[in-house]
Amino acid sequence: METVLICGGTGMIGQALRAYLRNKGFKVIILSRNKSNEFHDKWNPIESQFPKKYLNTVDHIINLSGENINQRWTAETKKRLYSSRVDSTSFLFSLLAHNEHTVRSFINASGISIYGDRGDLIINEKDSPGVDFLAKLCVDWEREAENIRALGIRTNIVRISPTLSDQGGFLKIIQPIAKMGVLNPLGSGKQFFPWIHIDDLCAIFHFLLVNSEANDVWNACSPENVRQDEFNNSLCKILHKPYFLPAIPSTLIEVLFGDRSHLFLDSICSKPENLLEKGFLFKFASLDSALKNVLD
Ligand SMILES: NC(=O)c1ccc[n+]([C@@H]2O[C@H](COP(=O)([O-])OP(=O)(O)OC[C@H]3O[C@@H](n4cnc5c(N)ncnc54)[C@H](OP(=O)(O)O)[C@@H]3O)[C@@H](O)[C@H]2O)c1
Repeated sequence: METVLICGGTGMIGQALRAYLRNKGFKVIILSRNKSNEFHDKWNPIESQFPKKYLNTVDHIINLSGENINQRWTAETKKRLYSSRVDSTSFLFSLLAHNEHTVRSFINASGISIYGDRGDLIINEKDSPGVDFLAKLCVDWEREAENIRALGIRTNIVRISPTLSDQGGFLKIIQPIAKMGVLNPLGSGKQFFPWIHIDDLCAIFHFLLVNSEANDVWNACSPENVRQDEFNNSLCKILHKPYFLPAIPSTLIEVLFGDRSHLFLDSICSKPENLLEKGFLFKFASLDSALKNVLD
């Protein structure tokens, strides 16, 4: 039985991944900054705390740590968003660089936001990054993961798209608004909005663990590209709610949300080109089937 250690595995993705990998026969250990209990052990990357006993027993490390982005972005918050991702990965690099270990592969989360606003351009993994706060954060985050690859450890970087799950994430925020029948397009509504179903995301992590050739950067987004308007429309249709309100102008969103407005307004028409090339099959390639599954 292979062992996977998930750092930051108490969150929405980590919990789904834990169940998925257990089902596939992996032993899964979760690290959290909170006091250890029967479900997880304690670490704290900022205070350089790590239970070193695992370094000589685990086969794979997956790093999902990161302060939640769904909050107001003050200067202090931005520091925490950055440090919880970049410094945690850098801490894992120094652990692996300076200790004996049994780790054969490492997977680091990143975000599809790395590309920034690209209009209608079709983006694959070879495209250059954007320049806004989130894009730069992802670049630095990935650079730390690349340092782990440079140690000779098979490393995969997963550029995660907004994830559809019934356990949280952005759907938890917009679903109640849609249910009240007051969902608006944000900005033009014409911006491409990448997304992925949580089951497909877990399957991608599993695919990267078991595929010993995998050692790359991967866009984790559905192959079907939709614009934000189409996304909202599908959501409202499935919920049997109207979708007719006027758009909220981009300028207002920029004033209200500052740098965070990129999350809502950037147009990213990404393709999971590397995954498709390697024969990965998406279970939820169409938005309607993904939304129906999650909302049911
Ligand atoms: N969900 C999405 O749609 C999405 C999209 C793109 C990228 N991602 C990335 O994927 C990763 C996992 O996402 P998720 O949705 O599972 O997030 P989540 O539910 O917010 O969980 C994040 C995890 O990070 C840990 N964490 C929170 N604040 C931290 C801090 N200041 N320092 C160190 N660790 C901290 C938490 O663990 P403890 O509090 O137990 O320590 C938690 O388990 C994140 O890095 C996120 O940026 C997610």
